[in-house]
Amino acid sequence: MAKFAKRIDYMQATADVVRYLFESMTDPETISFGGGAPAREALPVEIVHEIADEVLTREKRGVQALQYGNPIGIPDLRQAVIDRLLTPMGLKAGLENVIIVAGGIESMNLVSQLYLEPGDVVLVESPTFVHTVQIFKMFEARCIACETDDHGLVIEDVEAKIRQYSPKMIYVIPTFQNPSGRTMSLERRKALAELGSQYDIVILEDDPYCEMRYSGDRLPPVKYFDETGNTVFVNSFSKIFSPGSRLGYAFADEEIVRKIYDAKTATNSHTNVLTQILCAEFFNRGLFEPHLKMICDIHRERRNVMMDCIQSMLPEGVKYVYPDGGLFTWVELPGQVDTTAMLGDAVAQKVAYMPGREFFVEGQPVRDNCMRVSFGGVMPEKIPVGMERLAKVIRSKLYRTRS
Ligand SMILES: Cc1ncc(COP(=O)(O)O)c(C=O)c1O
Repeated sequence: MAKFAKRIDYMQATADVVRYLFESMTDPETISFGGGAPAREALPVEIVHEIADEVLTREKRGVQALQYGNPIGIPDLRQAVIDRLLTPMGLKAGLENVIIVAGGIESMNLVSQLYLEPGDVVLVESPTFVHTVQIFKMFEARCIACETDDHGLVIEDVEAKIRQYSPKMIYVIPTFQNPSGRTMSLERRKALAELGSQYDIVILEDDPYCEMRYSGDRLPPVKYFDETGNTVFVNSFSKIFSPGSRLGYAFADEEIVRKIYDAKTATNSHTNVLTQILCAEFFNRGLFEPHLKMICDIHRERRNVMMDCIQSMLPEGVKYVYPDGGLFTWVELPGQVDTTAMLGDAVAQKVAYMPGREFFVEGQPVRDNCMRVSFGGVMPEKIPVGMERLAKVIRSKLYRTRS
């Protein structure tokens, strides 16, 4: 059998944990706080059914939906991105600045194709989204983690690491971060954009949770403060429309969008036109805003129940993040409890979570005692049941490590 390329090894450890989590989730008895999917109840099934029924005819958009499309995406979806998503954030964009891609994750892939040479350094948050790290590693980049606190990336550490490593790119998830649930402060957003300009570094800003705010005030993205075009803003329709439709977009200077277009053409020609049409109609019929309100109501309730459970059920000494939106909270256990090793016990008790270890890379300490706990995919009445099981497993581990 032919030898595999060495890049495939980089992905194995993480893929193994994800595979294990998926397998554990197939057991209907297991309550899983491990995944990153939005609530089933938040998916616009009836809306999409109605739109499809109406527009997928030969006279209307049926032929367009099934024909090859333009690599940049259909104009009405790009215009909807500008009018309904970017303009409310204070971002000024023309059609030439927006390209539709196959899910948020494809942007990371395409932007990496544009900029990364083997050996280049990418600065990331600690912890950060494991999937994107895998992409950077696939491009043989070296990921170096920067310090974070409750207000996001610590700018002094970012600047120190810029001087030390001369990175090509900085990857940031500023709002309701995956995995920590934390949000970067306004001052730091501005400072990060300025660092990108000052040192001529690409800031890859990935903001798929920014619309899912349940409390607190909305903040402008890092891109809002970008005066030199160094920031590339990427986003996804997975949380606000549907993950299965595999839609996302990138917003950047025209020259960068043209390069993304070239990389996209070479990668997979264009994004699925059928789902682009359904999504564009969803926006253009005024269905997005009420749907978003419903999504936020559903997830706010789950967030509230989850945080009540964390406060009342988990043992003393546990630290956690109170997220103002998104799908995750981040729990840090006291003592030496290794959450990767603990996962087997948890699954045996029919509860799952995502161990923290996978979210750390070189440059900052690996925190084995942390876990990502997702409240998005679990019904509110099931959350206390699952958290009681998890609390029991944690208590048994704490007792064992202390004795
Ligand atoms: C931070 C972050 N970026 C990107 C994505 C990818 O989104 P998509 O499903 O659109 O590929 C996710 C999904 O969980 C995410 O958490």
